[in-house]
Amino acid sequence: MQRLPSLGALSLGLFAAASSVQAQTPLEQQLKDLESFQVIAHRGASGHAPESSMAALELAHAWGADYLELDIQMTSDGELVAFHDDTLERTSNGEGHINDYSLAELKELDTGSWFNEENPALANEAFEGAHILTLEEVFNHFGQDARYYLETKSPALNPGVEEGLVRRLEAYDMIETGRVLIQSFDQESLLKIHDLNADIPLIQLVWYSPDDENEGHLTEWTGVTPGPDEITDADFQAVADYAVGLGTNYLFDDEPVITEAFVHQAQENGLAVHVYTVNDANEMQRLLDWGVDGLFTNYPDRLLELTE
Ligand code: G3P
Ligand code: CA
Repeated sequence: MQRLPSLGALSLGLFAAASSVQAQTPLEQQLKDLESFQVIAHRGASGHAPESSMAALELAHAWGADYLELDIQMTSDGELVAFHDDTLERTSNGEGHINDYSLAELKELDTGSWFNEENPALANEAFEGAHILTLEEVFNHFGQDARYYLETKSPALNPGVEEGLVRRLEAYDMIETGRVLIQSFDQESLLKIHDLNADIPLIQLVWYSPDDENEGHLTEWTGVTPGPDEITDADFQAVADYAVGLGTNYLFDDEPVITEAFVHQAQENGLAVHVYTVNDANEMQRLLDWGVDGLFTNYPDRLLELTE
């Protein structure tokens, strides 16, 4: 699909070259690839194995997902780990806030058995005793053979996560090799990343839901854009000033919050549109028909069946 280059990418001096006939560098190739549909494995193949575990990442990687999606948080001793929730209870046998624990303490936890208990039909003894992964363990395992879609999760609870993340991406040479995207709901966090390394492609996450104070209208959680029914070209372009794409929810309470027109308007203003988190094959097909640029899914196998 042909799209206009994002203003953000143009300001990064990246997309201009990427949109030309041939990419010259791996980073330009990554941006060029973003013009095609991307399969984003949400916390790995987390419909099949414990989320953010090596098993879930390995499945997604083996099936050929374009990106391994992970939420990045910081331990009390400054290590970066892949974990979605701010608290430990739902997906481990620990309790309390993840940021209150050192890496050594977190490594004692079992982050796999909960999955077996909740999904008896998918239970696998090998999942028992899974450990929280550090970002470095993920990089050491997959290296340059994967692309990573990393979220700065709850930046207010993880002060310094941006510096720590960029330092590790640089140390593992993940940026110039076109291996990483950074996503966040927190615009400030993305701008911080951009200041630290202007080459990293960024995705602004948004979450649309009904506006309690304005019946019949939708609102965006952090206020980064107006609701989809009021959004203008200028609003999209304000995001395209620093990001290559928008990551948006599709549904709220099983009702769509975005339309095909929203997708096209974002694209016409230079933004790739990646939609989360879509697990139903019919919904996947509808969004593919709309021409979205990528889907986050817990079932990359289902999505790959539709796209390959
Ligand atoms: O990162 C896209 C999507 O994963 C955002 O929601 O809560 O699953 O991180 P969440
Ligand atoms: Ca996420």
